[in-house]
Amino acid sequence: MKKKAVALVLAASMISAVLAGCAAAAPATTEPAAEAVEEEAEAPAEEAEAAPAAEATGKTVGIAMPTQSLERWNRDGSYLKEQFESRGYATELVFSDNKIEQQVKDLENMIADEVDLLVIAAIDGESLSQVLADAKDAGIPVIAYDRLIMNTDAVSYYVSFDNYTVGTLQGQFVVDQLDLDNVDGPFNIEFTAGDPADNNAGFFFNGAYDVLKPYIEAGKLNVVSGQTQFDQVATAQWNTETAMKRFQNILASYYSDGTVLDVALCSNDSTALGVAQAIETDYAGDNTVLVTGQDGDEANLANIVDGKQTMTVYKAVANEAVATLDLGDALLNGETPDEGLIAASNWDFDCAYDTSSYDNGTGIIPSYLLVPTVVTKDNMVEELVTPGYYTQDDAGYLHPTN
Ligand code: BGC
Repeated sequence: MKKKAVALVLAASMISAVLAGCAAAAPATTEPAAEAVEEEAEAPAEEAEAAPAAEATGKTVGIAMPTQSLERWNRDGSYLKEQFESRGYATELVFSDNKIEQQVKDLENMIADEVDLLVIAAIDGESLSQVLADAKDAGIPVIAYDRLIMNTDAVSYYVSFDNYTVGTLQGQFVVDQLDLDNVDGPFNIEFTAGDPADNNAGFFFNGAYDVLKPYIEAGKLNVVSGQTQFDQVATAQWNTETAMKRFQNILASYYSDGTVLDVALCSNDSTALGVAQAIETDYAGDNTVLVTGQDGDEANLANIVDGKQTMTVYKAVANEAVATLDLGDALLNGETPDEGLIAASNWDFDCAYDTSSYDNGTGIIPSYLLVPTVVTKDNMVEELVTPGYYTQDDAGYLHPTN
């Protein structure tokens, strides 16, 4: 009965993702999640092909992802489900349509279902204190997945990529491409950041801005709009259309007189998609604008192949799911994991144990931080196709394998 409710919620959120017509919600990415739900309803203990059937633990892991309309969370959801099931856990996977109240409700349901562990990528990091107090009362450990959950002492650990480094990689890419240490410019740049409700968004923006600030102060980079504060450049819900409209306004207000735009620093791919669209339709110049991103979403990788985006910062969410499994497994076995988990788990990817960077308002949350990678047209096959994350079609475009 509970499983059916989960399936219905999922079906509804997938339909709304499709209705929203979001470029990221291509059928290829929503289908696997739909299948996963059915499998879950009928045969929860079924294993991923790679792993031998693990003995059922009798425990259930609740996995709450924000939405299916932003491409990566589909991948995260299915990787997490696959990982936990491969070690004998049943799973409940929900996507909450980017609606805060929906996520609270979904979490309440999972707590009522007596799940044994919650893995949560928050929609709004500030809005879960109440529901997570209930999780704590019920003795359910909580892992903040990818996004830190603020102002609650119910969160035991945080698993993510090094979010500040994501930003510094974007900033350094701009420095290197424009050869800012040797060339005076000046070059014109505009910033687009993420959702203020997402604790990651500030880290991404600050990482990029801290690298570029000295060049802005030296007059080598010029922010023509003058918009250099996070609040001025943020994008609610990381929404593609919101980013596009803001950028159209910037182009109309500051660049319609022939002023050249050299760089559009975008914190992630969903915003970069909107910005690239605005540049394509509304930018008067004919130079190629350097556009940054993050995630390796399918449409953005196509834009990179087509020269409409220059780079993306890729985060192997398959590995993020592996780290979350080992951490979750340790918690469910009554351990108190620390740095030792990394060596003990024998991961084939780099991960740092961090006990200083992420304070959620109740204290530092111990964090496992994976390492992001710069992907461009030149290294996309080596970084994405060779490890098996994507396949490449005959026209050169990449398609996610999960
Ligand atoms: C994630 C990014 C993602 C963004 C929008 C952030 O919290 O870390 O990978 O692009 O949310 O979904």
